[in-house]
This record gives sequence, C-alpha cells and structure tokens, in this order.
Amino acid sequence: MAPLTTRKFDEAMTPRERELAFGAGTYMKRDITLVRGEGIYAFDNSGRKYIDCISGIAVAALGHAHPELVKAISEQAGAIMSAPELLCNPVRAEYQRRLLEYFPESYTRVFLCNSGAESIEGALKFARFTTGKFGIAALKKGFHGKTMGALSPTAEPKYREPFQPLLPEVHHVSPDVASVEELLKDHGDKLGCFIFEPLQGEGGINVQDETFVKEAIALFQARGILVICDEVQSGFGRTGRMWAHEHFNIQPDIVCLAKAIGGGVPMGAIVIGEKIAELPPQSHTSTFGGNPLASRAGLCVLDVIERDKLVENARNIGEHLASRIRDADLKTVREVRGKGLMIGIELKQRAGQYIQLCADRGLLILLAGTRVIRLLPPLIISREQADEIADILIDVLSA
Ligand SMILES: Cc1ncc(COP(=O)(O)O)c(C=O)c1O
Repeated sequence: MAPLTTRKFDEAMTPRERELAFGAGTYMKRDITLVRGEGIYAFDNSGRKYIDCISGIAVAALGHAHPELVKAISEQAGAIMSAPELLCNPVRAEYQRRLLEYFPESYTRVFLCNSGAESIEGALKFARFTTGKFGIAALKKGFHGKTMGALSPTAEPKYREPFQPLLPEVHHVSPDVASVEELLKDHGDKLGCFIFEPLQGEGGINVQDETFVKEAIALFQARGILVICDEVQSGFGRTGRMWAHEHFNIQPDIVCLAKAIGGGVPMGAIVIGEKIAELPPQSHTSTFGGNPLASRAGLCVLDVIERDKLVENARNIGEHLASRIRDADLKTVREVRGKGLMIGIELKQRAGQYIQLCADRGLLILLAGTRVIRLLPPLIISREQADEIADILIDVLSA
C-alpha cells in the first residue's frame, strides 16, 4: 500500500532539520548528529570524534558498541525477541534471578519494564496497592520522569505546571528532618510512599546527606510509609557502589532501575521488597516488559560490570577526575560534587555556553539545571581518558 500522504521535504535537509520538522518538538536539539560509537567515543556524521560524557544520559555504561553486548543481542535477535510475559522464556527467568542476587534476601520479586518513568509508575502503583493510601512524599529538586505518574513527584514547576492536575496529595519537602517531621504531622495519615533519588541527577547532582536519609527513612518506615528509591540514573555502579543507596546503608522497600540496565537496549526494572503486598495477576503488565532481547542485554551488562570490576573503576576514576578539576582551583567553579562517575561541576555563572565550547574541543557534556556541568562517562573509562577530559574542562573553564 502506498503511504497516505507524501510530505514534501527537501532531500538536502540535514538529519537535525528533519527531526525538527517531523519530531514532536519536545526536545532541545544540539547541532550534533551521532552516527556511531566505540568505547567512550562517539562519532558524528562528519567523522568527528567526541569523548562521550553523556553516554546516552547514563545509559552506555559499557561504552558504545561493546563487542560482547553486540554479540549477545545479535544472538538473541536471531533466537527470539518477542515472548511476552504470558509465556515463559529462560533468558528472562535467568535475568530476574541474577538481578535479585545484587539485593539482600528481603527483596523477593522483580517487575521488568522499558524505561525509567515506567519503573516509577509501577512502583507508585505497588505502593498504593499495598498501603491503600495515595499520598506521596518527594524531595525538592527531585526528578522521576515525565509520564503523568512519574511527573507527579518530579519537583520542577516548568515540567509540572502545563500538565496539572497531576496525582493528588503530592508533597515536596526540603531534605531536612524537621521538614519531614512537619509533613508527617500535617499529612502523615494520607501518605503511602516516600520517593527519592539517593543522588539527585537532573536536579543538580546533589548528594543526599547521610544523616538526613537515615533519619527520614526511619521516620517514614516507622509509620508504615513505603520508601521508593529511584536509582534510574545512579544504579549499576555509576556512583562507585552497585546501588547508590548502599552509600547510606539503608533498605528501601522498592528500588527503581533503568538507563544502564540494558547498556543501551531500552529496559527498566522494579525491585520489590517483602513489605509489598502480593500483586494479583494482570494488575500490572507491559507488552515489551521482560522481552528476551533486553533481558539478554541485561545479563551481559551484569557480567561485564562484575568481570571488569566497573563499580570499582567508577569509584577510582571518578575520584581522580573530580579531584583533578577540584585541585585546579578554577575561578569559574563554585563546587565539584557527586560520587563515582556521576560528577557535577557547579559554576558561579550559567553553564550553557560550555556545551558548545566543550564540543568544539571534542567533549560531550550534559548540564543539570542551569549552573551545573554534569559528567556521566561510560564506566569503562581509563585514568588516561579521565585526564583527557579533565585537561579539556580545565582549559575551557579557565578561558
Ligand atoms: C532519577 C531519574 N528517574 C527517572 C527518570 C526517567 O527515566 P526515563 O527518561 O527513562 O523515563 C530519569 C531520567 O533522566 C532519572 O534521572
């Protein structure tokens, strides 16, 4: 059948121009068109090489085109990609078992999905189902995604306001114990869950204070309010521990995962603790959730993280990279913070101009808010490559 319409466009339009013309328009697009990658490097359509400190926004933990991941998904694509969860599949079964090995015994089940926001959606549903309460406590500057459910605990007004009304009874508190106590006094009886990122990503690379996290969680859990830890960005070794919440020695009731989980193949997971009620069949489902292709990618990511000691690498190289920038004592820099390879460089002025200045020097960076440069290189990065990044940033930020 012929297409219903043939939209007229100039064949000479660049990929960017076509994306701007035919995409939904909801993204800000830089003028860089990536066509391939190799390790920590990404290449644009003119052959220009960049050190990729975006990594698909913390996705490409193994770097680009990792040969073992390419082989694993190619083999799986040739075997079977579609086996929805109303049927069984050994690769998915093995993935669920393997993922739980990275959690204490009190985590008993895994729901597999396809993105970060979807993992938050499910977690909010499981918490509501268990407690029968719909109130949600969240933190100021928190980011949990942009679907209606996930957007509700997300703090940023410019993301929320155009889509009101969102979920009811969502309360954003400051990360201090007094604010949590006040919230519990005023609204505690309506709250079903507290959701937080152990290390806030989009909100500015904010490491939560350990005492606050421990005390707040104790207060919530003592009242039967379930704790959801959003590790979508911070999980899979990025912060120098397999899960960022391990830095705090706490036990959330639900852990949400995505991004690096499939090394680039879209995937998400909800790791469910024993306090969550038994979930009835069909109460939460997803056509693509737990598909064999993503599950095979997930197994490969776990294998490589473990064998190549990428969690330790993230810790060591992250510390080295952060201290190189810190020790340069740059006049433009207010603070260098983060953990492992989730690094924020807060500037004294707006950071926007540095995106292009770094790209001109062959370095792709992200921002977190308006003043923070965010570095999320692949976890396979070497010390020499980290030095290259530091040299470029120090140069650019000193100019
Ligand atoms: C902490 C956190 N939670 C949730 C999300 C949403 O994930 P996704 O974009 O895959 O829906 C993100 C995305 O950046 C995130 O950083």
